[in-house]
Amino acid sequence: MSTATASTNKAKLSLPGRPEVELPVMVGTEGEHAIDVRALRDQSGYITYDDGFANTGSCSSNITFIDGEKGILRHRGYRIEDLANDSIFLETAYLIIYGELPSSKDLSKFRGRIASSASVHESMRHFFEGFPDSSHPMAILSAMLNSLGCYYPEMTSHKKQLDENHFDWAAALLISKVRTLAAMSYRTKRGLPFVYPRWDLRYAANFLHMMFSEPYRDYNPKPEVTDALDLILLLHADHEQNCSTSTVRMVASSGANLFASVSAGVSALWGPLHGGANAAVIEMLEEISASGDDGHKAIEAAKKGERRLMGFGHRVYKNYDPRARILGEAAKRVLISMGIQDPLLEIAQHLEQAALSDDYFISRKLYPNVDFYSGIILRAIGIPVDMFPVMFAIGRMPGWIANWREVASNPKMKIHRPRQVYTGRTERDYVPIEKRGE
Ligand code: CMC
Repeated sequence: MSTATASTNKAKLSLPGRPEVELPVMVGTEGEHAIDVRALRDQSGYITYDDGFANTGSCSSNITFIDGEKGILRHRGYRIEDLANDSIFLETAYLIIYGELPSSKDLSKFRGRIASSASVHESMRHFFEGFPDSSHPMAILSAMLNSLGCYYPEMTSHKKQLDENHFDWAAALLISKVRTLAAMSYRTKRGLPFVYPRWDLRYAANFLHMMFSEPYRDYNPKPEVTDALDLILLLHADHEQNCSTSTVRMVASSGANLFASVSAGVSALWGPLHGGANAAVIEMLEEISASGDDGHKAIEAAKKGERRLMGFGHRVYKNYDPRARILGEAAKRVLISMGIQDPLLEIAQHLEQAALSDDYFISRKLYPNVDFYSGIILRAIGIPVDMFPVMFAIGRMPGWIANWREVASNPKMKIHRPRQVYTGRTERDYVPIEKRGE
């Protein structure tokens, strides 16, 4: 495992009325520099303040590298463009979790574990009956993933670290069952009978089978459709310390088990600024289309701060998100292969061009992100909008698992417990509490 090296350089900090503080500088394997502030409070009484953590490295990690200025994304050293071209979701998932691309023997073992874990315990079906029709599938998914842990006590014991064999099974089981539970949440909401997984189908095809087959008719998607879904999952597989992955790591840092940690990840992912953005993009495009706007009004409203262009902007990318470029091309291909003409694709392309030539977006370095085009593909496949963030969650599972493992297997890991700058009332003059309001 590679680690950050300590540089011989030190950062020096002058604080009023205190001796100068010297802080070590760390250098990552890609040359990123960080000031190690762990001793700052002990030495000076000061803490650092970084609302939204935009300047804070919360960990060192070996999994994913992003250079947002250059638009680079690599998993374990492999460029996302190469993985998207030359690997499938399960190979990239394996790479993210285990650090190396699988040999054909590794892959068939991994596939075997995933295939044999696809069904859920029959008693879990009853949980689904308790949810009202209005339930959001992300709420169901988060609850179900946490409940899943109840069936595997050997994988959820309070030991901080799972042994190798249990981890291998837990990882495959989650990658497999998140897909089954997602399809079950879709069918519950629509009052449809559950469809059992099939042994003979590949990952994406099996998901579509559990979503759309009927007892009297098997759903047989075109290979272009299953390939497009596989690509979407692959492109979502990990993205370093984003909101949901940071949540998974934070929950894991208390010693919580893998199931509880990824369930929290689903909740964090749900919001419209994160994994919910793919659904928000389609809602925005539909609204633009219904109002007869060609996108200009939406752009003007965004510039006045009245709305955000969903699927635009990113905390880390200050250049084109490489995943958005791949998906933009894929969206065109999939629609052509399915013979679909979606007016929303035209609006999206128009919006992209208009925004990329507008000073507001140029000066703020706002480019389309991964969510901008994924929804167009999911819509063409027939996935309903409320399931879009669920698709993100299925794709992100390998990243959550790998990050959970980094935390759980680190004997020096400390519980994540940030500090704050308190801005509330200071101590009041004591008035007996029972006399308040007199
Ligand atoms: N539309 C219009 N203006 C924007 C947008 C947008 N989508 N995003 C940022 N800005 C403006 C923002 O108003 C601010 O302007 P000013 O400097 O004048 O105040 C400036 O750009 C910087 O914005 P910020 O909110 O400080 O940036 P952030 O890094 O905190 O937020 C973001 C990143 C992704 C939450 C934000 O860009 C956003 O809300 N985008 C829309 C939602 C979205 O597409 N989310 C998916 C992200 S990618 C998938 C994932 O990993 O979750």
